[in-house]
Amino acid sequence: MHTKWSPSGWRAKPAKHIPGDYPDPEALARVEIQLRSYPPLVFAGEARNLKARLAEVAAGKAFLLQGGDCAESFKEFHPDNIRDTFRTLMAMSVVLTFAGSKPVVKLGRIAGQFGKPRSSATETKDGVTLPSYRGDNINGMEFTPESRTPDPERLVKAYSQSAATLNLIRAFANGGYADLHNVHRWMLGFVEGSTQGKRYRELADRITESIQFMEACGITPESVPQMKQVDVYTSHEALLLGYEEAMTRVDSTSGDYYDTSAHFLWIGDRTRQPDGAHVEFARGVKNPIGIKCGPSLDPEELLRLIDILNPANEPGRITLIARFGSDKVEQGLAKLVRPVLREGKAVVWSCDPMHGNTFETATGFKTRPFDRILAEVRAFMNILPAEGAYPGGVHVEMTGQQVTECLGGATAVTEEDLSSRYHTHCDPRLNGAQAIDLAFLIAEHLRGVRVGEAQARAG
Ligand code: PEP
Ligand code: CO
Repeated sequence: MHTKWSPSGWRAKPAKHIPGDYPDPEALARVEIQLRSYPPLVFAGEARNLKARLAEVAAGKAFLLQGGDCAESFKEFHPDNIRDTFRTLMAMSVVLTFAGSKPVVKLGRIAGQFGKPRSSATETKDGVTLPSYRGDNINGMEFTPESRTPDPERLVKAYSQSAATLNLIRAFANGGYADLHNVHRWMLGFVEGSTQGKRYRELADRITESIQFMEACGITPESVPQMKQVDVYTSHEALLLGYEEAMTRVDSTSGDYYDTSAHFLWIGDRTRQPDGAHVEFARGVKNPIGIKCGPSLDPEELLRLIDILNPANEPGRITLIARFGSDKVEQGLAKLVRPVLREGKAVVWSCDPMHGNTFETATGFKTRPFDRILAEVRAFMNILPAEGAYPGGVHVEMTGQQVTECLGGATAVTEEDLSSRYHTHCDPRLNGAQAIDLAFLIAEHLRGVRVGEAQARAG
């Protein structure tokens, strides 16, 4: 039976994707002790609020939007990048809120999303083999032995970057920047720049009219402060357990353990072994937890994971993030949904349409076709209701920048274009225009009416 738990208990379990090649393990231990004395990045009460909001998603009363970089990096750390990601998430959320007539829970893959599991431990270039890049909190991307050697000081730098990023997000969220009028303007800006804009114009116009109507009724940011404030939460993959352990604290209000590095932590598709270290760690912290569910996940194993991580079946605790790929989702998803429904497990179902749709081009760029991303979301939005479950959310790798990392979309990124603005430190992200296009597509589904059909009826 799983009873006793401690923040360091994971150390006795097999741990995948945690680097064991720090040249000076004592230096790593010293850094972890140092981090233990640093202020928490989030407050346990906020994680509880998020769990309550996710419980609403599980009940079909709200929608979850989770997005941000595949990997944050020291190099791309800049206020403009944080601002643009924030703006894009907000613009997507206004489209989704309007379309679904449901509140949107906004969750960034941000302020701590550094460590990456890699399919291969080493990388070979021109006959030279070095350790793979594992994320800026572990080693550097540059292909040299020095840069690829894990350096514990990087954990301190990642902590500081997370703190500064979160500080700016909180300022944007609460200081008036996220005023609905601003968000609406950003949304219109995205629509104007998009060749899909015409298709979405009808919906965008209706949002404009609604805001004008509210204003005429005296519902303004001045009279209703909620219109200029938003709740934004943070999340990352709980991969580097030494860091997560150091950030785990007893909450003085409840006496429970919380991982204070982020509001929400997820377990990756490569580290979700029921007897492994990552699941052991996650079961003892009270934060809401995500589980990435890919094609290799056996339905019985999923039930076992849910039992380990959420024995009390508390709604909002578990978010299942399906990441099958557009070619596998049809087959794979229903197989997981049925037993979860049958056993009465309260979960949020979210769709990650990114990680199952990745391939490498002949020129060596990892990319994802926007059409396949859309196809997987579409399938998800159809399969869940057909099985009697609620398609509760979406999980995307995106940025507000106009990068060229995913193929297609409104700006028609081609294979030749990939090299021009390919900045990601790991997987390819949707750019701002692609992200907003995706939001409109989901919006159409949430409304149950295709905008195209509505237009056809109108004339
Ligand atoms: C990720 O979210 O960046 C990731 C590595 O995903 P997955 O665990 O689903 O492969
Ligand atoms: Co990724």
